[in-house]
Amino acid sequence: MRALISKAKGGPDTLVVGELPDPVAGPGEVVVAVKACGVNFPDVLIIQDMYQRKPPRPFAPGAEIAGVVVSVGPDVTVRKVGERVSAFSTSGGMAERILLRAADAMPLPDWVSFEDAAASALTYGTSYHALKDRGQLKAGETLLVLGAGGGVGIAAVEIGKAMGARVIAAVSSQDKLDVALSHGADHGFIYPREIDSPEASKKLADAFKAACAPQGTADVIYDPVGGPYSEPALRAAAWNGRFLVVGFPAGVAKIPLNLPLLKNCAIVGVAFGAFAIRDPAAAMVNHAALMDLFRSGALKPHISARFPLERGAEAIQALADRKALGKIIVTIG
Ligand SMILES: NC(=O)c1ccc[n+]([C@@H]2O[C@H](COP(=O)([O-])OP(=O)(O)OC[C@H]3O[C@@H](n4cnc5c(N)ncnc54)[C@H](OP(=O)(O)O)[C@@H]3O)[C@@H](O)[C@H]2O)c1
Repeated sequence: MRALISKAKGGPDTLVVGELPDPVAGPGEVVVAVKACGVNFPDVLIIQDMYQRKPPRPFAPGAEIAGVVVSVGPDVTVRKVGERVSAFSTSGGMAERILLRAADAMPLPDWVSFEDAAASALTYGTSYHALKDRGQLKAGETLLVLGAGGGVGIAAVEIGKAMGARVIAAVSSQDKLDVALSHGADHGFIYPREIDSPEASKKLADAFKAACAPQGTADVIYDPVGGPYSEPALRAAAWNGRFLVVGFPAGVAKIPLNLPLLKNCAIVGVAFGAFAIRDPAAAMVNHAALMDLFRSGALKPHISARFPLERGAEAIQALADRKALGKIIVTIG
């Protein structure tokens, strides 16, 4: 099968398009013909051996897929050949076929396109789990979303609105702010692309608080950016606030622990993939709730660019360069 292949550790320029052996479904497994694969920041990390999981090489990156089941293992009854499905995995999505655990292939209703599903299986699943289960976001609360024009960020904006929150979008450029506002953010602001001094950090904290006017604080802060953005954002947390640790494209922050004490707030980790493995029943309930929100029109992935498999490396490079608006999709076949 054709695939975008990582043969050696490195950036997107090390990826090559070539042949990998066709996967064969064993017990409990299915093979899916991939139609579309969403690009995610972990794709940038995994090809450089910087992700928590390291698949053996050669492997195809790509963790968020939609497609059609083409074969099932001998004991599999939950999925059928010909069924449309979506799924997320660690890797393997930027290929003509992917091997999955049958339990991980979620049935895809006819009214969801392969592209929308490939832009949401991991992305919206993460933000829904974060805001509902980890953040306990309530209607009427203020939600501050960092990186609100990116993949999981814009999903958090939409889901936050759907949950009845007032949503403040924080982003690094006007085009990202425009996208966040067009997907429901109540308002937002543009932060600098570099935060490189204590003065810049203090100024950013003041900007987060000003953006959360009139109360000047956020009940829930969704942080998929990290690095020098995290501490200034935490300084805008409300009394009893929840600061959600989602990702670190800008680096892993070191937080002074007096801050959560002073604000009586919680710093809460979000590990969606591990949650779905540990509690598949709860993950299925969330998936069904998300499908209802998609069907109602409350959620609509923002797909800003599509690349064929042959140009998948460019798609990953765009994300690494902080250029992605909403989602980038790799289409296959
Ligand atoms: N915890 C979980 O379960 C889970 C699940 C999925 C993803 N994640 C993590 O969430 C994070 C975001 O993933 P994503 O797929 O949504 O990525 P994405 O679309 O690229 O969004 C990340 C955002 O981070 C900001 N950013 C700041 N510094 C950056 C840099 N040096 N390079 C790239 N972006 C930078 C960008 O927004 P601005 O330019 O506006 O700052 C960008 O839009 C990643 O760390 C990913 O690993 C976590």
